[in-house]
Amino acid sequence: MRTKIVVGNWKMNNTIAESTKLASELLAQLGEGFSGCEVGIAPTFPALQPVGALLENGPVHLVAQNCHYENDGAYTGEVSARMLKAVGCAYVIIGHSERRQYFGETNATVNLRVKKALSEGLKVIMCVGETLEEREAGVTGAVVSSQVREGLEGIDDISDLVIAYEPVWAIGTGKTASSAQAEEVHDLIRTVLVKLYGESVASAIRIQYGGSVKPSNAVELFAMPNIDGGLIGGASLNAADFAAIVNAAR
Ligand code: 13P
Repeated sequence: MRTKIVVGNWKMNNTIAESTKLASELLAQLGEGFSGCEVGIAPTFPALQPVGALLENGPVHLVAQNCHYENDGAYTGEVSARMLKAVGCAYVIIGHSERRQYFGETNATVNLRVKKALSEGLKVIMCVGETLEEREAGVTGAVVSSQVREGLEGIDDISDLVIAYEPVWAIGTGKTASSAQAEEVHDLIRTVLVKLYGESVASAIRIQYGGSVKPSNAVELFAMPNIDGGLIGGASLNAADFAAIVNAAR
């Protein structure tokens, strides 16, 4: 039985003050002694430390939105996995479609980042997903399979890995993949993992769905056999909505 995992990706939203306010509201919504699924929130880099201080020793993980594949050096604008570990992050999101679309990330750079993050003791949420053109061209399976295979190239131990399937056409558009459409791709991802790592490893890996998840559609999505939680964008910026989505996963 896989424990569901729900993570709020705040993207480039909220100042430090806004971030700590939202995190406090969320902790109040979830309540003392929260349990039943894994939860994380991913603020911007400047807010990691102050939000982390609020989350310390609590049930909600601190998550970063990206990391570089070197430890340090002349990489202006980048942040390394060891820095994220030192600030208290438990997870890092790698290969989000917005990183691929706007910042030139490829399966190869995603692979370097995943390797580095895992080697520094961070857990990784590796994002995959097809564009609308790819879906309409009937190549969703091929695209997602190669994102998984190439993203995991040379990685033997994936016990600290979560995969997030986020169809690009469903992100921030209000268009959610139907639970059947999402399940079909989640099942395909698990089949790829079985081929790469065998049945018992593959069956333990969580595969989150992301793309316009809301309180109103979360229950149906999370009820699918291969959907093990969600990576939530817009709805995670409201504590009550995000808590409702977390409750749908418990
Ligand atoms: P939305 O929930 O806003 O569609 O964003 C999904 C996402 O990209 C999470 O990483």
